[in-house]
Amino acid sequence: MPLVTTKEMFEKAYAGGYAIGAFNVNNMEIIQGITEAAQAERSPVILQVSAGARKYAKHIYLTKLVEAAIADTDLPIALHLDHGENFDVCKSCIDGGFSSVMIDGSKYSFEENIEMTRKVVEYAHARGVTVEGELGKLAGIEDAVNVSEADAMFTNPAEVEEFVTRTGVDSLAIAIGTSHGAYKFKPGQKPQLRFDILEEVGRRLPDFPIVLHGSSSVPQEYVQMVNQYGGAMPDAIGIPEEMLRQAAKMAVCKINIDSDLRLCMTAAVRKHLAEHPDHFDPRQYLKDGRDAIRSIVQHKIRNVLGSSNTL
Ligand code: G3H
Ligand code: 13P
Ligand code: ZN
Repeated sequence: MPLVTTKEMFEKAYAGGYAIGAFNVNNMEIIQGITEAAQAERSPVILQVSAGARKYAKHIYLTKLVEAAIADTDLPIALHLDHGENFDVCKSCIDGGFSSVMIDGSKYSFEENIEMTRKVVEYAHARGVTVEGELGKLAGIEDAVNVSEADAMFTNPAEVEEFVTRTGVDSLAIAIGTSHGAYKFKPGQKPQLRFDILEEVGRRLPDFPIVLHGSSSVPQEYVQMVNQYGGAMPDAIGIPEEMLRQAAKMAVCKINIDSDLRLCMTAAVRKHLAEHPDHFDPRQYLKDGRDAIRSIVQHKIRNVLGSSNTL
């Protein structure tokens, strides 16, 4: 089976009230762990690659590893550029075999965002590649210091129809309170998502797939495990899984998860090395890292995304 775009995945996900997991990949063990989980759950999956991943592993290694994963599992897999920052990066991934790209113009003005997104859509659609755009700014823990500043960063539902119509994007990432990394809320702060914004966006864009970035839940047992085996992670707080499950039943068709995979893999490798101080064969500890990835992805597919048995 060749790579697939996100189009059919999202149509089925929207109608079925579930979401597709978009997991960031950086090496072979991560790709194997994710795809083994998706295969076990009979679920489609999106493997996404950031600029940092391309720099770390090289484009060619990642595309060949994903090609191998498809041959090995026969799964419908979309290979997606995460946070493409300009036309050239998107073009390079489209020309280099990706089936989907994100153009992230969220830091620019509305008009500039539309202009750069429209240009990528034109190039991508002519080559059968799907495009994700973004409207609204994801907050970092220190970004929003008061309510009006936070409000200004959330996606404005009044802008979404014009953005989608003028750009022609296939999916839209919105800001409703999620953020990247393991430190999404301050200690003591109650995690909250703006479901009212999501609902209004869904009303204005019927049957249109919405994307949530920054959707790691930061399971506390893994933070504790990291710290138990020599790590020093300060209090880390993520998005409660039941909130993500709720979003997946609404217009959200793609949920991005990276930090949880990093956390689980690191916890498992730390545990392995602490329990086997004599080991120095990378296959021994990376096997545990890969098993941890498989287990968290299987958990997400079953309990958060709801995409099990949808092939
Ligand atoms: O949203 C960002 C992703 O978690 C990728 O992170 O740029 O460190 O690869 P990265
Ligand atoms: P997390 O940092 O919450 O895993 O988000 C990942 C992401 O949005 C990748 O684009
Ligand atoms: Zn993101």
